[in-house]
Amino acid sequence: MLFNRAMSHGARDVPTAESPAGDSLGSLLTGLDEADRETLELRLERWSDDLLAALRVLYPEQDVSAIAQRLVGRAVSAYSERPPELRRLDQRRLLRPDWLQQPGMFGYACYTERFGEDLKGLGGRLDHLRDLGVTYLHLMPLLLPRDGDNDGGYAVQDYRTVRPDLGDVDDLRDLATTLRADGISLVLDLVLNHVAREHEWARRARAGESHYRDYFHVYPDRVMPDAYERTLPEVFPDFAPGNFTWDDELDGWVWTTFNEWQWDVNWANPDVLVEYADIVLYLANLGVEVLRLDAIAFTWKRLGTNCQNQPEVHAVTQALRTVARIACPALAFKAEAIVGPRDLVQYLGQGEHAGRVSDIAYHNSLMVQVWSMLATGSTGLTKQALTALPPTPPSGTWICYVRCHDDIGWAIDDADAAAAGLDGYAHRRFLSDWYAGDQPGSWAHGLVFQHNPATGDKRISGTAAALTGLSDAERRGDAGGVGQGLARLFLAHAVVAGWGGIPVVWSGDELGMPNDPHWADEPGHEDDNRWAHRERIDWALASHRGDLATTAGKVFQGLRHLATVRRSLPQLHASAQTRVVLETSDGVLAVVRTHPSGSMVCVYNVTGHWQTVPVRLFADAGIVHPHDALGGHPVFGDAAGQASLSPYAAWWVVEAPVEVSRA
Ligand code: GLC
Repeated sequence: MLFNRAMSHGARDVPTAESPAGDSLGSLLTGLDEADRETLELRLERWSDDLLAALRVLYPEQDVSAIAQRLVGRAVSAYSERPPELRRLDQRRLLRPDWLQQPGMFGYACYTERFGEDLKGLGGRLDHLRDLGVTYLHLMPLLLPRDGDNDGGYAVQDYRTVRPDLGDVDDLRDLATTLRADGISLVLDLVLNHVAREHEWARRARAGESHYRDYFHVYPDRVMPDAYERTLPEVFPDFAPGNFTWDDELDGWVWTTFNEWQWDVNWANPDVLVEYADIVLYLANLGVEVLRLDAIAFTWKRLGTNCQNQPEVHAVTQALRTVARIACPALAFKAEAIVGPRDLVQYLGQGEHAGRVSDIAYHNSLMVQVWSMLATGSTGLTKQALTALPPTPPSGTWICYVRCHDDIGWAIDDADAAAAGLDGYAHRRFLSDWYAGDQPGSWAHGLVFQHNPATGDKRISGTAAALTGLSDAERRGDAGGVGQGLARLFLAHAVVAGWGGIPVVWSGDELGMPNDPHWADEPGHEDDNRWAHRERIDWALASHRGDLATTAGKVFQGLRHLATVRRSLPQLHASAQTRVVLETSDGVLAVVRTHPSGSMVCVYNVTGHWQTVPVRLFADAGIVHPHDALGGHPVFGDAAGQASLSPYAAWWVVEAPVEVSRA
């Protein structure tokens, strides 16, 4: 037995120096010096049960000990090769396991070439990020993709090679090191639902190697594809209808959820797990601190379902994370699961997976609600939707964002809509039309992405400035409109920055950049208007980031202010409990955060009109001298006990600092 003692009996039966952790495991640790051996013994003692449990879920018919042995073997080698500086980081993270939950965390996401031309160039532009207060940098896919259209790099041909136009692996390692010295964690994508048709595994499958054919879901005829299609949605109905692609060389139908050149891998094959574990370890040893598990929801297929959010998906994450915890515990996982509100929290670990899957996940539901509140000036649906979410596991952290590089899909649950007196379908339709600028009164200038007439699904592309009306007002020279657009943009960012997870600003939004009017000009981009909001940083504009007389400067300083104030508020630790107050008026969202250091009440006016909020709300939360930390002013009520909120006001109300409350 591989993990006979350490793995199956828990703390009461811990391994000893004489009998490390079973015979086979002992042999895996051979050659390590005593200190390393002890470190790994302790980590195995902690994580082996979790690994075996995940493997049993994934491969119930197979010898999971043998699979575990392969995985641990890889982890041991990666640990041996881990550079001293990263081992030190491991220790640091183990000493502060809540590092991602700290209020000082502030994220930014960009394409390397659109921000700094290449990796070296990006390294030369870090002052922009430092100024903003960034501690977490997500660089969009930069591992070698297929030639031609590659879905923005999400069709990877080689996970161990950097795109040559951006640099090489040494440049990536150097950048990670520079960032780390600046207190910025590097985040990269791990595309694990599919590989490019040109990836070695797919190439060898096409060449007839059955070992690699088994890495994919391949069917000789339409029987199984048709059976699956009965319940499968389409992700890209416009440019990639259907979920299977005929391949002549393969002489079969291969599963392609996304584009026809993105081949879904078969996670039911343990060889695939071992391959990806190796890739995880490789990237971690370059200095990557967070891996974004791309399209994780799609990784497990089950007939008769939509093949998303299957329970095994969480076991896949648990297995990979366990391997990482053994070799490189500084590495964190982020689930990219852009799914309905009812399926979301599971990605932060629920039930048997609590504390064992991703450390962070996208709060897609909050993002959608921000736009819904702004369009309607109403918080009814938002109160319902956010209250209906199961509690966030205390160790889990949300990525809070107003938009990302993808389109916005209106993930609104029909039951939530009904409870708020709305029809889900009609409301989703309304939001699409509003943000496409097709509704009377709309300020927004988004673009419709992937309209699916069969389902009525109509997603939206656009930068934050385009969706809040800022960029269009600026273009028209409409000062009033610019003011309103700025107010909406701050409000949207304040809501997400005040939620308590890691706020992530999408590149260009910190300068209020408009949609890129030339998005369709680049080869391969013409059918994909998501490129409209993946704009290149305009460095001439960025040079005004400190100038409050410019719109770009106002936006930048506004977001920087959010980062600065966040850092000072322990209540924004991600573990604090969040409760949406149901009793406020329809135009006001109030969120109470409870933390041992004191409470915080975030108050947002989501309308373009004055609103009031009862000051009793603050007293009820235990705040004696309410003080808006964002505006730096005390909060007073009128004779009727109401405080007045200006249009689109955002307040983060805490107990006044002592010197202020005494004054
Ligand atoms: C994720 C990415 C998206 C990509 C898809 C397929 O959802 O965010 O851009 O198209 O995965 O990899």
